[in-house]
Amino acid sequence: MSKTILITGSTDGIGLETARMLATLGHQVLLHGRNSGKLADAQHSLSSLSGGGRVETYVADLSRLSDVEAFAQAVATSHAKLDVLINNAGVFKTVETRTQDGLDVRFAVNTLAPYLLTQKLLPLLGASGRIINLSSAAQSPVEADALAGRVCLSDDFNAYAQSKLALTMWSRALALSLSAEDPAIIAVNPGSMLGTKMVKEGFAVAGGDVRIGAEILVRAALEEEFAAASGRYFDNDKGRFAQPHPDALDPQKSREIIRAMESILGETTRPSQDADAS
Ligand SMILES: NC(=O)c1ccc[n+]([C@@H]2O[C@H](COP(=O)([O-])OP(=O)(O)OC[C@H]3O[C@@H](n4cnc5c(N)ncnc54)[C@H](OP(=O)(O)O)[C@@H]3O)[C@@H](O)[C@H]2O)c1
Repeated sequence: MSKTILITGSTDGIGLETARMLATLGHQVLLHGRNSGKLADAQHSLSSLSGGGRVETYVADLSRLSDVEAFAQAVATSHAKLDVLINNAGVFKTVETRTQDGLDVRFAVNTLAPYLLTQKLLPLLGASGRIINLSSAAQSPVEADALAGRVCLSDDFNAYAQSKLALTMWSRALALSLSAEDPAIIAVNPGSMLGTKMVKEGFAVAGGDVRIGAEILVRAALEEEFAAASGRYFDNDKGRFAQPHPDALDPQKSREIIRAMESILGETTRPSQDADAS
């Protein structure tokens, strides 16, 4: 049966390849990007694969939390139900590291935007729904002051690694706090050094086959092996579910991350639903 699948950051890299694979399988893919030209190109290339169905697109710069809210609202206006949300959009190196909300762009795009989008779209995803969050092998303990934008991190890799551990922590904590009526939330490291724009520009290497990352996201979105995996971490470098960073298994630390995110979102957006780790 055809599923409705929203993929953030589906204008390039792993997200675009995942969208292609899912459209080829006959699923309705909702594309998202920040660049309307690239989004139109992606829409055009997918239209021929999707059996003639209309490929929807959404423009939103996820470094702006107000854009994330408007994006969620636009999706909810057009869809009463979503089967899968893939929080794929991510940023590593960038010239401008500060967002208009005063946050590090890595924390804004990689950690807070997917959290806010998830909160806003939870009502559209029922018990059979899935939320797939793009984690990474790069994970470092989160500094609360860096997450909140009170201190700047000068090292891109450190900022990226902290943002990915924060995402992995809230993924598990939120998953454990939800009920059986709610969707599964699964963090996935798609594989390291796959040859996308992020890796080519960030590490000056060609990188591996992008399809390795896309294939695991297709499995995570569709296959039964992921249905009962809520709160777990799939490490595609190992090709299996694995232990996440110890901080992601620490309820107290995860609770603190969620409280900090709720506080940041409370200051920069309308108050959002409290989702404490239990
Ligand atoms: N490649 C790897 O080896 C690897 C390893 C571990 C984890 N990951 C994760 O996999 C995910 C996909 O990365 P990728 O390697 O495919 O990188 P990519 O080719 O650079 O694609 C990133 C996607 O995110 C979008 N994006 C970036 N900043 C955005 C913003 N402010 N607002 C909206 N969209 C934004 C990009 O849009 P534009 O097209 O406009 O740039 C693009 O569509 C990321 O979360 C990344 O951290 C990748």
